Amino acid sequence: MRQIFPVQGPDLEPAPNARPGPLPAAVVELARLYGNGAVADPAAANVRGWVRANMIASADGAVTLDGRSGGLSGPADRTVFVVLRSLADVVLVGAGTARTEHYRPVRATEIWPGLRPDWAAEPPIAVVSASLDLTGCERLLTAPPGSTQTIVITTRAAPADRKEAIGGAARILEAGADVVDISAALGMLAELGYLNVLVEGGPMLLGQLIQAGLLDELCLTTSPTLTAGSAGRIVAPAPGPAAAAGRLSLAHVLADDDFLLCRYLAE
Ligand SMILES: NC(=O)c1ccc[n+]([C@@H]2O[C@H](COP(=O)([O-])OP(=O)(O)OC[C@H]3O[C@@H](n4cnc5c(N)ncnc54)[C@H](OP(=O)(O)O)[C@@H]3O)[C@@H](O)[C@H]2O)c1
Repeated sequence: MRQIFPVQGPDLEPAPNARPGPLPAAVVELARLYGNGAVADPAAANVRGWVRANMIASADGAVTLDGRSGGLSGPADRTVFVVLRSLADVVLVGAGTARTEHYRPVRATEIWPGLRPDWAAEPPIAVVSASLDLTGCERLLTAPPGSTQTIVITTRAAPADRKEAIGGAARILEAGADVVDISAALGMLAELGYLNVLVEGGPMLLGQLIQAGLLDELCLTTSPTLTAGSAGRIVAPAPGPAAAAGRLSLAHVLADDDFLLCRYLAE
């Protein structure tokens, strides 16, 4: 992996897969590059965390290949995915992504514990869902004892029987009447101490975050793939008035095996 912006530096040595023990130099360097955003004073009113999204798109702008993001990914993207999870307090995801990508709790062996403040436990997955249909990602509700419990962010109107069924296995947060108020959800997560929020999609959730002006950072991998398909983009339109086009500033670009990994900050 090479840093090509802001300054072309020496190659970053390949970062190995996550494992316990001392941090390899390449992982330390990636963690420095991606850092964590400035976080508001948790004692302040209306506090919310730093919201970073990590997404991948094909060179022709598709968010999926054959219905999933995995076909677009590559080793460098997976390395950054792990580093970003290691730096996160919580991983926020829409239920569509959790179902399609078969989400399960983050395992200790899938992150770099040495990147976590005070070697904190793995970040919980927080799923946003109105339906509470977790088909395909049932493992989120079967976290082994001692591992971090999944958070389900839903509405007051969500089916009561599903709430009850899920309630024993996950922490349920109600943030809105019929739809989840994303801003309120971030406030609830902040109150629980989850200030570094990593959003892993999907497009519908990302669209709402952008519309509400809540996205602080976008980590975007461009995959050297032309899909020529009908897949959507990384952001889907949110209901309500269209968001004004937002300007991003480029924090860095890494290149690896024809993949480009850009870190943008919202201005
Ligand atoms: N390329 C990438 O980086 C990337 C990343 C992530 C996902 N993806 C792909 O994107 C696709 C999924 O996209 P998507 O846009 O459908 O998924 P999404 O944003 O992950 O999930 C949409 C679902 O989240 C819930 N939701 C979102 N906002 C809500 C709100 N305000 N209130 C209540 N519920 C809310 C709803 O769940 P319920 O239906 O349960 O109510 C909704 O159907 C998959 O194919 C996945 O592979 C690609």
